[in-house]
Amino acid sequence: MTIDLEKRTMLKLAALSAIAGAGAPVLAAAPAKLPLKVAYAYVGPVGDGGYSYQHDQGRQAVQKKFGDKVVTSFVENVPEGSDAERVFRDMANQGNKVIFATSFGYMDAIVKVARDFPDVVFEHATGYKTAKNLSTYDCRTYEGAYMAGVIAGKMSKTGVIGVVGSVPIPEVLRNIDSFTLGAQSINPAIKTKVVWVNDWHNPPKETEAATALINGGADVLFQNTDSPAVLKTAEQMGKRAFGWDSDMTKYGPKASLGSAVEDWAPYYIQTIQAVLDGTWHSTATWWGVKEDAIDMVSIAADVPADTKDRIKQIKSGLKDGTFTIWKGPVTTNAGKLVLAKGATADDKFLRGITFYVKGVEGKVPGGN
Ligand code: GUN
Repeated sequence: MTIDLEKRTMLKLAALSAIAGAGAPVLAAAPAKLPLKVAYAYVGPVGDGGYSYQHDQGRQAVQKKFGDKVVTSFVENVPEGSDAERVFRDMANQGNKVIFATSFGYMDAIVKVARDFPDVVFEHATGYKTAKNLSTYDCRTYEGAYMAGVIAGKMSKTGVIGVVGSVPIPEVLRNIDSFTLGAQSINPAIKTKVVWVNDWHNPPKETEAATALINGGADVLFQNTDSPAVLKTAEQMGKRAFGWDSDMTKYGPKASLGSAVEDWAPYYIQTIQAVLDGTWHSTATWWGVKEDAIDMVSIAADVPADTKDRIKQIKSGLKDGTFTIWKGPVTTNAGKLVLAKGATADDKFLRGITFYVKGVEGKVPGGN
């Protein structure tokens, strides 16, 4: 599998990431002029499920909450790269005072445009570069991936589970690894196969990857891509899979084992409230189960009661801090100990994951 230089660079840069920007001064210490114009850029179509759909649910929640105080709009199918810069510039030139860029690969474009519009608030999902007028926000999707792994570990008959990977950045590697760690907590011998599509939303490639995984022996599939194609493929081929980002049960009612669902609305509402109040300042936010930003929902009826109970325990342990997903010993699939016995991973470690854990087959594209 080849990946282009841009993606390889992203992987390396992301590994060097640090959480920055917290405690920055307030951008505008005065209430915003009304109505506040707010724009969202989505990497895929809004459609009726998936990552961009779920962000748009958050946008709609903002519109509902603030009524005529805000005017929200969105542009969908914005490719990562130079097109994104043009779209963000247009949004700012059209008078938008808050711009949400909702995909990792918008990072360099948003940094550039934020520099040119110092009185506009920019918000970048899943990135790691901040500035006085640029925040980052993210969801601990790996917590959903771990819970999916627990279910997959129980439900797989072949002992081989599969992941359709999007873009090989730490966020996605962390999800593949967390899925595997969850499955190994039930079946230590389970193996994870990965097929990359090098895209976030690409139903034909996602379908192809899911088919290849099933033909390779995987009977439970997981995805870090944006469309319901993986679940649909599992449904057609008589296997099991998960919904991702939104509740996708309807796309594969027989295949679906549950959906890991994000809720972006509380963050969007909090951010807009701060801008309206004149208290917004640059932050780096990473919310998870604890803040109700990610959940495992619609768990299939045939998942045994003890596994459903385990998911409940994990959720309550993540909420009150008594359960940690990334606890040593953790070893890479090349045999290197990366987390010593008893050690727990901090956010810097989690943001810098560039390896597969033991049990995942193959090599990370562009990795060492
Ligand atoms: N889909 C498109 N972009 C992204 C991203 O940056 N993160 C996640 N989790 N999903 C995406």
